[in-house]
Amino acid sequence: MTAPDLRHHGDAELAPGLIDLAVNVRAGTPPAWLRTVLHAALDDAAGYPDAGPARAAVAAAHGRPPGEVLLTAGAAEAFTLAARALRPRRAVVVHPSFTEPEAALRAAGHLVERVLLAAPAYRLDPAAVPADADLVVLGNPTNPTSVLHPAADVAALARPGRVLLVDEAFADTAPGEPESLAGRRDLPGLVVVRSLTKTWGLAGLRVGYALGPPDLVAELAAHQPHWPVSTLALAALTACTTTAARAEATVAAHHLIDHRGVLLHALPPQVQVLGEPRSSFVLLRVPDGERVRAQLRERGWAVRRGDTFPGLDGDHLRVAVREPATSRAFAADLAAILEGIPPAPPTPRGQPRQPEEIR
Ligand SMILES: Cc1ncc(COP(=O)(O)O)c(C=O)c1O
Repeated sequence: MTAPDLRHHGDAELAPGLIDLAVNVRAGTPPAWLRTVLHAALDDAAGYPDAGPARAAVAAAHGRPPGEVLLTAGAAEAFTLAARALRPRRAVVVHPSFTEPEAALRAAGHLVERVLLAAPAYRLDPAAVPADADLVVLGNPTNPTSVLHPAADVAALARPGRVLLVDEAFADTAPGEPESLAGRRDLPGLVVVRSLTKTWGLAGLRVGYALGPPDLVAELAAHQPHWPVSTLALAALTACTTTAARAEATVAAHHLIDHRGVLLHALPPQVQVLGEPRSSFVLLRVPDGERVRAQLRERGWAVRRGDTFPGLDGDHLRVAVREPATSRAFAADLAAILEGIPPAPPTPRGQPRQPEEIR
């Protein structure tokens, strides 16, 4: 078996005309008020960015002093900084999970061990992580399984002499962020990584942050270039950490629960749903998955292949939760493929369907 391509991500599945169920950015984002904030921030683009106010805003939102906050160009930058700054003797990544942390560690020359969680539940077993691992990385909720581990199980991995890096890029997709460790200042070596990409539709802006003890934050910061986060990204950070914005994210997370229920209910019986989905995507196991994925593309759907995640294979597909009409149309096409029903003839122009045609 060839090694999975750790640098493959959902955006590589997209193509013109395909409906995007491969990238888990919330549909309809960024909201109009946030676009207004970004447009206004352009007026200040001539000056170098001043990270102070945004850092203070993020710190206040998580009940921490600013010295425990590192603003980054997306969560991805935080993983690279950790890989460059830390010197782990035994680095462990819990899989299946987002592959950038492991890719960044390997690129920085570290050996990486994998702890594979067992299907179909993919529940975290803290005892499965080697006691002498001095760097442990995991995601919560986890991409691609959508499993949300209990905060107590994640916290049990923290100990003196170990850095525990928790990727919480999807934390705000669960209402109230019930299992987040972002406000925990008592756990030794805990670094929590957050992102504005998913909930606010800012993948292209590159904006996120890390929270952790001041000494670790300083170590990571030492590997950043000067002015790493742009004026527009700083404006987004300030705007998206207000009480009102956080309340809006909570409302969106509640809608997500309903929409996820519609998708799960509509899926055909041949499809196995893995884990207990708690985020904005679901992990499916379908028979003959690679053929099914290809046929979904022919019918206009881009889903995320599973085989580039350690521990998964070509029968695993990750599917974004969208609004009900899209999910039902997708499920109907998936059922037709699994039952061997040929696609309807192409539209008169021979064009694939556009999202608005099914809404
Ligand atoms: C679990 C997880 N963490 C982090 C990221 C990257 O986030 P950012 O866009 O903030 O770099 C992704 C992107 O797909 C992700 O799925």
